[in-house]
Amino acid sequence: MAFPQSFMDELMSRSDIVDVVSSYVQLSRKGSNLFGLCPFHSEKTGSFSVSPDKQIYYCFGCKKGGSVINFIMEIENLSFPDAVRFLAKRAGMEVPEEEGNREAARHRQRLLDLNRDAARFYYQTLQQPEGAAVRAYLEKRQILRATAVKFGMGASPDAWDALLLAMTKKGYTKAELLDAGLVVRNKNGGLYDKFRNRLMLPVIDTRGDVVAFGSRVLDKSEPKYMNSSETPVYSKRRVLYGLNLAKKTKRPNIILCEGNLDIVTLHQAGFDNAVASMGTALTVEQTRLLSRFTKELVLCYDNDDAGKIATDRALQILNHSEFSVKVLQLPRRLVDGQYVKQDADDFIKFQGPDAFERLLRGSENGVEFRMAQVAGKYDLTQDESRVAYCEEISTLLASLPSAAEQEIYTLRAAQTAGITPEAMKLEVRRAFKRNAARERRAELRRSLNPASQLQPRERTLHYENLRSARAEEGVLRLLLMDSTLFPRDIPLQASDFSSPLLGRAFSLLWQERSEGKEPSLSLLTPYFSSEEMSHLTAVYQQPESRQNASQALDDYIRIIHTEAEKRADSQQDPLLLATEKYKGKK
Ligand code: UTP
Ligand code: MN
Repeated sequence: MAFPQSFMDELMSRSDIVDVVSSYVQLSRKGSNLFGLCPFHSEKTGSFSVSPDKQIYYCFGCKKGGSVINFIMEIENLSFPDAVRFLAKRAGMEVPEEEGNREAARHRQRLLDLNRDAARFYYQTLQQPEGAAVRAYLEKRQILRATAVKFGMGASPDAWDALLLAMTKKGYTKAELLDAGLVVRNKNGGLYDKFRNRLMLPVIDTRGDVVAFGSRVLDKSEPKYMNSSETPVYSKRRVLYGLNLAKKTKRPNIILCEGNLDIVTLHQAGFDNAVASMGTALTVEQTRLLSRFTKELVLCYDNDDAGKIATDRALQILNHSEFSVKVLQLPRRLVDGQYVKQDADDFIKFQGPDAFERLLRGSENGVEFRMAQVAGKYDLTQDESRVAYCEEISTLLASLPSAAEQEIYTLRAAQTAGITPEAMKLEVRRAFKRNAARERRAELRRSLNPASQLQPRERTLHYENLRSARAEEGVLRLLLMDSTLFPRDIPLQASDFSSPLLGRAFSLLWQERSEGKEPSLSLLTPYFSSEEMSHLTAVYQQPESRQNASQALDDYIRIIHTEAEKRADSQQDPLLLATEKYKGKK
């Protein structure tokens, strides 16, 4: 792996899992482990455990687990190397960068510098004569100068190579400009500026780096918005426009909108807690990012069909999260006897900040929103549609994670449908069984067709030979617990293992031991996915008796060998096998 072993050893000894986890989760001791509420799924009783002896965490509820590095990867939403850097910083250690890494890091830093210089260039253009059209546009949209400055807005000149020239003059190469997505190659191989004659909206991450640009045309031409493509410093799934500012808000929640300029208007009107997903659906990565700054989200998408769909999708992602979620529904606006769509920007302009504040305070929670959506589909004066409503609403109610929510909204649904609470409860119980049966069927389909799109976790959990796998698990546990139990020479090959995952883990740990070190689970982190690590942690956290451990080890090894031989036999040519038998008889 990229980091030298001596560095990793030191890092591990300075990153005690209990210390690290304690700054995120309140832990209390129960026996030899510590327990708390799992930060990775929503729960009321603590099934999240940390073992100081094994230096692992494991949640008995969501079955996530791993080393301290896995924990940081998961909770801070970082890659393995970034999690290592994060822990090193925490431990006050310098990170020795590997050559390739150092090169990649240098390249990323160059792109960030380039983006910052480009943002400065656009900003300066905005103040100059060439910026007049964008200045007029800002005025038309009632964006104040101070607001434009706060967001670092700029203007891209109405020319094919203004940025290209300015940045090459500063020493940036064409390759760097292409990599940053600021220039594009035409059919003849020539380069030209991607953003021309547009209002420029730098996208700044929570560290304060300019990672990308959004931009808007000044007239009605298409495309209205043009954003940077994905680059080594920009992954749109992981960024929210305006979060660099919203993370400092004193308000108790964060408002999620669709559009960049909605955010600008909201901040200007005093709602400095607004962020935008820039036209894409909310992602899991974005929710993890948000969870570092708030526990309450307010969804404020446009009040058209697309906005409703986006709201519904976001609610699905957030259904099992720790956030409390509200939906702020903007009313449609009456124009010339017709109701028209309105976004946050329009609403603030026409109804004012006070009206928005009232909506914000009165916004309904996510369940209420979804229930209203369902109710809106049926004519509840008709018996037939009431029955259909009950069926659909009970499916929704049955999927609610908390019993309290389920009880409260079941009562409300009963009122809406005009039936007794008891009847509605019965419906919900039936729906619960339907949901469970559907999941079981899906599970069965997956198990009957293992080659079909299995989730990585299920693929790992699937053992070909249970008897051997249990013994293999035991060998791994003992190797992690006390490697002195093992003989000097390797007693098993990875190929003896019926589970490739366990075999791979065994050889890596054995290698560690033959180098005179104590095998540890954290060593495996860079080699396995988070699902695989969770599985290996599940194996390790199971109790393994220290008494008779030598005897147990011998038994495990014997079982694994026997099962491996059986496999080898059955793989032989059946014809050959038959003739051997025949010979044997003779
Ligand atoms: P909307 O089309 O709802 O625009 O796109 P808006 O924010 O109300 O824009 P204004 O008020 O006319 O300026 C919402 C968001 O979707 C993304 C942008 O981030 C935009 O802010 N979008 C939209 C794109 O990325 N590309 C597009 O072509 C359109
Ligand atoms: Mn708008």
